[in-house]
Amino acid sequence: MCATGRNCLSWHGSTAQLIVTEPDLIKEILNNKSGVYIKPKPVSFMKKLLGNGLATSEGKKWAKQRKLANHAFHAENLKNMVPAMLTSVEMMLERWRQFEGKEMEVFEEFKVATSDVISRSAFGSSYFEGAKIFENLNKLAAMAVGNANKIRLPVIGKLLKTSDEIESEKVENRIRESFIHMIRTRQEKMKNGEIDGLGCDYLGFLLRENQDVDDNKRISIEDVIDECKTFFFAGYETTTSLLAWSVLLLAIHTDWQDRARKEVLEIFEGKSPTPEDNGIAKLKTMTMIINETLRLYPPIVAIYRNVSRETKIGDLFLPGNIEVLIPCLVSHSDPEVWGVDAHLFKPDRFAEGVTKAAKNTMAYLPFGLGPRACVGLNFAMIEVKLSLSMILQRYAFTLSPTYVHSPVQRMSTRPHHGVQIILHAL
Ligand code: HEM
Repeated sequence: MCATGRNCLSWHGSTAQLIVTEPDLIKEILNNKSGVYIKPKPVSFMKKLLGNGLATSEGKKWAKQRKLANHAFHAENLKNMVPAMLTSVEMMLERWRQFEGKEMEVFEEFKVATSDVISRSAFGSSYFEGAKIFENLNKLAAMAVGNANKIRLPVIGKLLKTSDEIESEKVENRIRESFIHMIRTRQEKMKNGEIDGLGCDYLGFLLRENQDVDDNKRISIEDVIDECKTFFFAGYETTTSLLAWSVLLLAIHTDWQDRARKEVLEIFEGKSPTPEDNGIAKLKTMTMIINETLRLYPPIVAIYRNVSRETKIGDLFLPGNIEVLIPCLVSHSDPEVWGVDAHLFKPDRFAEGVTKAAKNTMAYLPFGLGPRACVGLNFAMIEVKLSLSMILQRYAFTLSPTYVHSPVQRMSTRPHHGVQIILHAL
């Protein structure tokens, strides 16, 4: 194998890793028409965190899970989730009253709000009911990040467990018990007639699949738990980052904050968005701001695949069992694609959509591409637009002098020391 120009070879421990930034190759890998490029199998802590859920499974199992998730997060069903989103954001803004005229940190605030949104809208629960689950998922995620580059000796590693490995087993069990409790509660509510059927949210969808009389179609309770883990985690981690970076950029670029507020006030006239008014779809300036934020601070900075068998891509011959890394952040800041001002916050570049903003759309991958692209894209966009619309109608904000710029890569890219703003009530 030989790597040239925009692609290069690196090593991840003893595994060769091809780093690809050439747009045509990115397209081929992520569209995966040949079926060669598969998701890396999660091991150890990641396996405990996401199980064999939608984000990690392959083949028939993935196809089945994906169909279900596509249906649950389809536009019509998303409309039904808007009231739950509004409740969560209203609760957040209620907490913000105590910070009026003062400094506040928004990253932790968004973490609670987005956790509440996914709990309410997809699982009929709330952040406070599911607080233990989030706490334990965060613990597992921190262990996964902390141990990502630690090398374990094959035999000794199996015999002697590290303290993190012992702890992670306990945490995984606690998460499992919490989900079992959530599932039982839902089933009992149905039996007692408190709710009609199993519900129309994602948990309801999953539980109906678990009751299918057809053995081939039925999913096991372990599958239900893995999907719950995946969506609880994927549902808040990345959206929190996007909201925090958006607020940071709007606090710095107050001209764009004013433009976004003007648009929001024109569309919503000081009221909260509703599922019926279609206002969210009319937010042009805000979409430009969010697209530019995702370009500069993509929550997922790199996409990984494994090469399952020997293959050829472009001029390159790849052996089986190597890794492919697509560094989205590199493509997002490439001056050849975006122009010499690639490093600047200029939402205007998205005025006519992504195709006009970039010389090659394959260089813009905040939600991935192809069959494994983000299934929560529309959910996340509605949630972020709705949250920013409600914030901007009530508050103006500037960056606090205490803010320290320090983006770090954990599961997603996040501000290491949070985002401190000064909140001004309007
Ligand atoms: C700003 C918010 C978000 C960003 C930037 C984001 C980004 C991504 C990216 C880049 C991928 C593709 C990963 C790959 O190809 O390996 C992905 C997949 C996925 N995302 Fe998101 N995501 C966001 C929000 C969400 C939300 C809110 C949910 C759930 C409600 C979600 C659920 C998933 C799932 C389940 C997958 C795996 C899909 C599959 O493999 O078929 N994401 N996301």
